[in-house]
Amino acid sequence: MAELLSSSEFRICNSIEDAEIVILETCAIRKKAEDKVYSLLGRLKQLRKKSGLPKKIVVCGCMVTEDGAKNLVEEHGVSVVLGPRRISRIAEALHESETEPVIDISFVWALPPYDISAPYISGVSAYVTVMQGCSNSCSYCVVPSRRGAAQSKPLRQIIDEIKLLETKGYKEVILLGQNISYFGIDKPDTPRLIDLLEIIESESRISRIRFVTSHPAFIDDKFIERLSKLRRVMPNIHLPIQSGSNRILKAMRRGYSSERFLELVRAFRNGNENFTINTDFIAGYDGETPADHCETLELIEKAELDGAYAFPYSERNGTRAALTNNENSIPIIERKKRCKEILDKVKKVALERRKRDIGRSVEVLIEAPGVGRSEGNINVEFEGGRSNEFGIVKIKEVSSFAMCGELEDNCLQEDGIEK
Ligand code: 5AD
Ligand code: SF4
Repeated sequence: MAELLSSSEFRICNSIEDAEIVILETCAIRKKAEDKVYSLLGRLKQLRKKSGLPKKIVVCGCMVTEDGAKNLVEEHGVSVVLGPRRISRIAEALHESETEPVIDISFVWALPPYDISAPYISGVSAYVTVMQGCSNSCSYCVVPSRRGAAQSKPLRQIIDEIKLLETKGYKEVILLGQNISYFGIDKPDTPRLIDLLEIIESESRISRIRFVTSHPAFIDDKFIERLSKLRRVMPNIHLPIQSGSNRILKAMRRGYSSERFLELVRAFRNGNENFTINTDFIAGYDGETPADHCETLELIEKAELDGAYAFPYSERNGTRAALTNNENSIPIIERKKRCKEILDKVKKVALERRKRDIGRSVEVLIEAPGVGRSEGNINVEFEGGRSNEFGIVKIKEVSSFAMCGELEDNCLQEDGIEK
């Protein structure tokens, strides 16, 4: 959105108090994220009363629903409401809102022009959205209802986008999809994720390729075998498991067992023991017993995870879980306690994994002097180095999620392959 607006008469200002237009890009996955938006809307109302600014408030993203949109306009003074697949209409919508409030939450994907659809996350890495929405039905999740069914981006557009990023000097692309393992399944004539990765490797010279978020039920052994042959797809996967208990996984409708997850973990690391694996957990899902929680803690050790996010379960209106399981709900305080236990265990296990890196030399993509990321996506600190180049760092010290060492070699990667 920032790039789209900067090509018209808008410009970004540095403080919310000075802004004539405030754009809120929202997330609805947990209640806390939505609560933050409402409290910010309250603050904007106060500001507007005092100074007349902001003149316009835009709310975009997953918080937007058919029912809620009218309320945002009428109760919160919002001028533009854009659904997650409509954000590339931002400039037009702002113009249209001169006459009356705009509400556009259709699930038809307004594809942005490819040359501006990949905002940078750092000077070296760019996100490339390869699909929208999700066609799964995990019991707890609002994504399918808020973002609609899965829709893959046309292959040609993805490749053109990546080639453009390459010419702009980006060294790494991160392909994005809610369930990226589903890529192509919605379109019989589109390649699947593994085909896409192979095509990107052969048609572009981008140095590092990553993809998020994967789903264990959609990964087979063939995928892992073909992936292991791709040299520029980085040895790291974000593979949410959610729970280590098969009973809870079934209630969540995830479509795999904890044993299958462990099988996948072993297969990814087979042949490359440094392959890093991160996951997500939901703590205190309805009906989760202390024994179920213990199974989750045990799984963290068995999988020797490199990192994880954990979230206390948040009931979301409209999900299957919110409709059916209320009498089994776990007290919030207990959810938070279990969440902390999960994170503490992950921290311990990840530290053991990192200790193996002490004394090793790892290749780092330097984001700024002194900081970069390893192939396994671990933050690495060192002295010196030039941004947007590759370096070799000899690891001296580690913590659970970061490493620190000495830069041995910092060489410009001329053509994206030879170093
Ligand atoms: N409550 C808590 N966490 C959730 N997630 C998705 N829905 C919920 C919910 N209702 C988490 C999952 C998912 C991550 C993006 O957010 O762990 O992988
Ligand atoms: Fe939500 Fe991910 Fe399940 Fe889709 S696969 S419903 S995005 S948790």
